[in-house]
Amino acid sequence: MAEQSFEAYRVSENAENNFDSAIIKRSINELTPSDVLIKVNYSSLNYKDALSASGNKGVTRKYPHTPGIDAAGVVVLSKSKNFEAGDEVIVTGYDLGMNTDGGFGQYISVPSDWVVPLPENLGLRESMMLGTAGLTAGLSVKKLIDAGLTPESGDILVTGATGGVGVLAIALLLKLGFSVTASTGKTSEIPFLEALGAQVIDRVELSEASSKALLREKWGGAIDVVGGETLVNILKQIKYGGSVAACGLVESPSIALTVLPFILRGVNLLGIDSVEIPLATKRSVWNKFSADWKIDNLEDLVTEISMAELSDKLKLLLAGKARGRYVLSMSS
Ligand SMILES: NC(=O)c1ccc[n+]([C@@H]2O[C@H](COP(=O)([O-])OP(=O)(O)OC[C@H]3O[C@@H](n4cnc5c(N)ncnc54)[C@H](OP(=O)(O)O)[C@@H]3O)[C@@H](O)[C@H]2O)c1
Repeated sequence: MAEQSFEAYRVSENAENNFDSAIIKRSINELTPSDVLIKVNYSSLNYKDALSASGNKGVTRKYPHTPGIDAAGVVVLSKSKNFEAGDEVIVTGYDLGMNTDGGFGQYISVPSDWVVPLPENLGLRESMMLGTAGLTAGLSVKKLIDAGLTPESGDILVTGATGGVGVLAIALLLKLGFSVTASTGKTSEIPFLEALGAQVIDRVELSEASSKALLREKWGGAIDVVGGETLVNILKQIKYGGSVAACGLVESPSIALTVLPFILRGVNLLGIDSVEIPLATKRSVWNKFSADWKIDNLEDLVTEISMAELSDKLKLLLAGKARGRYVLSMSS
């Protein structure tokens, strides 16, 4: 087994400090040994993978490296009593794909406390159609509901609507009976978002700075992947007592605002982290996606790709031009 070779998408830093990628053969004994060796059947693409693959040292310190913060596959070897060969499992987040070789390789070796058993009634491919983006959308929806959001609260705004987190947040909210407004920069994708069942606004409406500390109340709640001026404007527009789940920074990690939305309207700013949350929390979200949160039209939101297509799709993601989710099949 230790001699077995496999394919991996490998990113390297060259002498000019640029980053190159190639699909190479690796040996299983080149992986850092850990508790569970997993044969990866599917991975998926997330914004963080695009950062890692482009040499962002805030995500990945050392190269050569195999990105891929998501993986779903079958246990091959286990030193943990919690898993045995043949178990179907999901791994997302923690250090996978950051400084631990990730799901863009056909094998991963990870600590057992990163591993979630695949729930019954959820397929390996389906789990990666959701991936970290789905987990993040699910955590956001759960936190909003826990903070009191109901379909009667009013329209829920979702930013970065055509992105991975965005489309899954829209699909889940609609399934749960919420009315959703999708904010997008892609005019060409308005029919796609409308067909899902969302109303659509141009993201420019949210990105222009306003000198006012509060704006007209519009949204019962929001899921924001954009940050920056967009998040500031959203907080100024949330209805009394409403909440915003902040999970991304594609525009900017910085926000500059007054405390007035919080102290005059009781608005809640909820932080979402899908990476370091306890395994039990991840497991409970995966279980929900296999049951009452099962998304029926998932296939419409996903494009399946092979390793040979990774570089092009990661560039699209980095440029904010991708639509929906990309699931990476290791067999195609
Ligand atoms: N907190 C967590 O645990 C967690 C987990 C997953 C992801 N994230 C973060 O969430 C964000 C989205 O991730 P993702 O995987 O969904 O990425 P993605 O698939 O690339 O989607 C991002 C979307 O944001 C919009 N966008 C891009 N650039 C923008 C800009 N300058 N201003 C406003 N909107 C812009 C685009 O949608 P439109 O064209 O439709 O506007 C784009 O498709 C990232 O910042 C990522 O790091 C956080």
